[in-house]
Amino acid sequence: MASTMEHISLSAPGGPEVLLPAESPRPLPGPGEVLIEVHAAGINRPDCLQRQGKYPPPPGASPILGLEVAGIVVECGHGVARWKVGDKVCALLSGGGYAEFATAPEVQCLPIPKGCDFVQAASLPETVFTVWTNLFEDGALKAGETVLIHGGSGGIGVTAIQMAHAMDAKVLTTVGREEGLEFCRATGADHVFNYRIEDFVPLALEATGHRGVDVILDMVGGAYLARNIECLAPRGRLIQIAILGGAKGELDLHKMMQKRLKLTGSTLRPRSVEEKGRIAAAVERNVWPLLESGRIRPQVTATFPLAKAAEAHALMEAGGHLGKIVLVVR
Ligand SMILES: NC(=O)c1ccc[n+]([C@@H]2O[C@H](COP(=O)([O-])OP(=O)(O)OC[C@H]3O[C@@H](n4cnc5c(N)ncnc54)[C@H](OP(=O)(O)O)[C@@H]3O)[C@@H](O)[C@H]2O)c1
Repeated sequence: MASTMEHISLSAPGGPEVLLPAESPRPLPGPGEVLIEVHAAGINRPDCLQRQGKYPPPPGASPILGLEVAGIVVECGHGVARWKVGDKVCALLSGGGYAEFATAPEVQCLPIPKGCDFVQAASLPETVFTVWTNLFEDGALKAGETVLIHGGSGGIGVTAIQMAHAMDAKVLTTVGREEGLEFCRATGADHVFNYRIEDFVPLALEATGHRGVDVILDMVGGAYLARNIECLAPRGRLIQIAILGGAKGELDLHKMMQKRLKLTGSTLRPRSVEEKGRIAAAVERNVWPLLESGRIRPQVTATFPLAKAAEAHALMEAGGHLGKIVLVVR
């Protein structure tokens, strides 16, 4: 194995053009880590924020972009018990995915689901872990309940639609483009609203017989806060995972008390290896069987070679994608 590798460098915060191919030393796996020969790396919106200088990597994480990869284990650090050289895995990373090699804690690796190739597997960890822990752990979404998922046509959105549908919840979702309507219906949404031409509040209330929805997964934030509160049923849960539409909004505490609502939110990346390992185990138990039976299908709608990471970011920021974008590394 060569001691250097190609990766995508981020010389300074800026637009997609700051992402350029470069050479760097191949990383070494630490204790409890594996070295993965990366075949494909998923792109997520947080990568764009990191590129813009708005989402620095947590302490100790690789400065290279990329939160998820799929590939082959080529070296095991001291104490690695589950994996051996030659195993095909996908992994959640706290950075370092846009490269020919990446290290990952062994507990953050999962076997590639049967039936998935490297590109499909690389599209899974970041969104599946995020949706699992937010919608099903913190949001406690149950079969028979109704969920409203904002941003349904993006990577997180389509993952949430599929997982909620597969767990027998009723799914409402919002999109901002016509092509997103059919995409979300085809992946399991029962009702899709175009938020650019219609107000989702009366539509969500009508779709639930005016009871409201049990859970909302929201990435828009401030601009939606008051309307999300209107949409929630008694004992409803609002789960905030991003603030694409602003961090501040007005909360009517009276309505929150009247309906006994719960408001929460989280970010995945800064969590400990131990916590991510716990989520990985829950995902393998609960979500991997749904992938292997075909009830959930990875939704990769665009791929780019590693060297063209800048074009992939430009596509994501132009909102020109549905589902996931993946970099093909080899
Ligand atoms: N909390 C966590 O742990 C965590 C983990 C991963 C990702 N995230 C966050 O989740 C969000 C979605 O990530 P992703 O990778 O799924 O991104 P994505 O594929 O780009 O999807 C985001 C979708 O949100 C919709 N949207 C609504 N308002 C928007 C706005 N103001 N700007 C841009 N898009 C808007 C867009 O669909 P339309 O064009 O149809 O509106 C877009 O497809 C990001 O904000 C990301 O940072 C959070």
